[in-house]
Amino acid sequence: MIRSLSFYNFRNLSDLTFQPSEKINILWGKNAQGKTNIMEGIWLFCGCKSFRGAGDKEMIRFGEKEAQLFCSFTDEKDEREAKITITDRRRAFLDGEALSSPVRLMGQFSAVVFSPAHLTLIKNGPGERRKFLDTALCQLYPVYAGMLSRYYKALHQRNSLLRDLPYHHELSDTLDAWDQLLANAAVRVLKARKKYALLLENAAQEIYEGISGGEIFHCSYRQSASEDDFVNALVQNREQDLRRKSTGVGPHRDDLQITIGGKSARSFASQGQQRSAALALKMAEAKILFEQTGAFPVILLDDVMSELDESRQNYILNHIENKQVFITCCDPNTVQKAKEGRFFHIENGKLTEKKEK
Ligand SMILES: Nc1ncnc2c1ncn2[C@@H]1O[C@H](COP(=O)(O)OP(=O)(O)OP(=O)(O)O)[C@@H](O)[C@H]1O
Ligand SMILES: [Mg+2]
Repeated sequence: MIRSLSFYNFRNLSDLTFQPSEKINILWGKNAQGKTNIMEGIWLFCGCKSFRGAGDKEMIRFGEKEAQLFCSFTDEKDEREAKITITDRRRAFLDGEALSSPVRLMGQFSAVVFSPAHLTLIKNGPGERRKFLDTALCQLYPVYAGMLSRYYKALHQRNSLLRDLPYHHELSDTLDAWDQLLANAAVRVLKARKKYALLLENAAQEIYEGISGGEIFHCSYRQSASEDDFVNALVQNREQDLRRKSTGVGPHRDDLQITIGGKSARSFASQGQQRSAALALKMAEAKILFEQTGAFPVILLDDVMSELDESRQNYILNHIENKQVFITCCDPNTVQKAKEGRFFHIENGKLTEKKEK
């Protein structure tokens, strides 16, 4: 939970300090005042890059050389002090000690972010959903990152063999060995993803049904080859793979299929349904992180209310009690129904506590 935040020369936030509520924090104000910048600044304390895909230098205030961000937060027992500086690169410090890389903040402070950019989770192709599963799994089990990179390494090696084979027939015997190696790595990734997809379905189903007032949500892992007989699937697909010079089955071709009322959310859901589904997946990610690690991540909801009708908004506002949440919006009226919320008005990078327009 965040106790205090200070940002200096971070985007348009030249000098901003505030002590957020332990519960709901509503950051409101007109367009282009700095609301998303605050969310982006908080997110950096997870050890990740900007969720907007911005390069580090872009986040330094125009005309300045360095941005500084401070965050004091509590984990299960202790109060921790984290600091991030951005110059030619991003550096992180924890309790006064320089960390070897900002990634080291991962696991110390955790947050889940939802912004309009995350609608691609529903709208885009399978790659986006695989990335969601992989990122969530990396936060949960750091060893998963190694499993994933071993799989992709084996995949690239098999693919380059497929490209070389027409010119080097003597290599054809080695394909069996590569298939076995790829299969071993694939099975680990598949098992982890399927296990996570089940947790996700349970958690997201309940949240989605709540937000929508009873619509039926499902998500399930769609695999191109089963972990029980992966080598066989590769062998059966071999001729096609040799023709295409790439591997046609495996975790890199899989998807997380999302349906609402039995129909594909990507193809048929409305804007509000897609937004609700992406939000349910993100909230489910937070719930799973809590169930598995005991610490509830800070929830960052950027611009989540637009396109949602009043009943959906109310459900969201009143079902995130006992968690620390930051919500941005333009009109404070849309969030007046939040119980226990504190309201912060943002104008030209400055923050004042205030509820009314
Ligand atoms: N490096 C920077 N230095 C100074 N200002 C910046 C920098 N990067 C972005 N800005 C400015 O920050 C302003 C606020 O951006 P932000 O995305 O936080 O707005 P917002 O309050 O979320 O608006 P909206 O309601 O439209 O989403 C923008 O006008 C932008 O020009
Ligand atoms: Mg914004």
